[in-house]
Amino acid sequence: MSEKKTFIRSVGGYLPAQVMTNDDLSKIVDTSDEWIQQRTGIKQRHIAAEGENTSDLAAAAGRKALENAGIDIAEIDLIIVATTTPDMTFPATAAIVQQKLGMHHGLAFDIQAVCSGFVYAIGTADSMLKNGLARRALVIGAETASRLLDWTDRTTCVLFGDGAGAVVVELGKPGEERGVLATALRSDGQHWNKLYTDGGPSSTKSMGHIRMEGREVFKHAVGMITDVVYKVLDDTGHTIADLDWFVPHQANRRIIDGAGQKLGLPPEKVVVTVDRHANTSAASVPLALAAAVADGRIKRGDLVMIEAMGGGFTWGASLIRW
Ligand code: UT7
Repeated sequence: MSEKKTFIRSVGGYLPAQVMTNDDLSKIVDTSDEWIQQRTGIKQRHIAAEGENTSDLAAAAGRKALENAGIDIAEIDLIIVATTTPDMTFPATAAIVQQKLGMHHGLAFDIQAVCSGFVYAIGTADSMLKNGLARRALVIGAETASRLLDWTDRTTCVLFGDGAGAVVVELGKPGEERGVLATALRSDGQHWNKLYTDGGPSSTKSMGHIRMEGREVFKHAVGMITDVVYKVLDDTGHTIADLDWFVPHQANRRIIDGAGQKLGLPPEKVVVTVDRHANTSAASVPLALAAAVADGRIKRGDLVMIEAMGGGFTWGASLIRW
């Protein structure tokens, strides 16, 4: 393993102003606050305003992360946006974010790994910085999942929300303790049709809506999550007991609790935002990081495990010394 290490310098989150509660949803589809809370733990979600695009959310979260790092966009030379809901089929949303932030050097591109996108983007930025392709990255997870929903399908439309989270990642000095210690990324395309959109540019010339076999996703989620969590712990010689914080993808409270129990994690070490944000896909992990850093839970020196699982299936985890 290379001696070079990247670390997360700052984090920032952005949530659109409009909040939609479960009661609001029960006026649109045949559902109830009780069903949604019991099956998912979700109480509310944020919904992007008309004309507010994924790049707007991403740029807002990016600005916040830059502000929290105390640096200017001129000091960033790589932007990666993890998203499944790009503004347009092309160019990459990252290029639009680059323009919105006023960056005219370096490089910017998107990563498409659905809910695992942010963990994939951390792994990619970490590798690129260590290999000298860039020096300091703005890694963003941003989604307007509400635009992909079929608002007549109660089995999916109650689950998702909009938002964005961003981190500044840079190369640490030799010997520095903090850093991204290990990342494990996985996918298995045999499961693609358990969570997908029923359209796309090449197949239907449209974007389609989210379709999901919820029980099938649920069945695989906990095993896949724990698989990559143990992998990064093994790779770094750490154990579950060493973790200060577990920051999982926020898809469903029952999946988070199931993974936490299987790993033997005390609930107070698990960061949960799914109640307020619902599933924001690639934005969920950086938004949860932003919440836990802002309220003082995650502090410099803490050992933090992030993980996600989603469409593809894709899954991954990263162990970070904050
Ligand atoms: O990043 C990964 C993204 N995906 C996920 O994380 C999803 C993983 N899966 C899940 O979270 C759960 O499977 C769901 C929350 C989607 C569903 O929970 P479930 O306990 O697996 O329910 P179910 O699909 O077995 O449905 C139970 C019942 C059904 O009624 P019948 O057939 O028993 O009469 C559904 O029609 O609940 C009904 N139902 C609803 N009722 C009220 C489904 N959606 C709703 C709803 N409101 N929104």
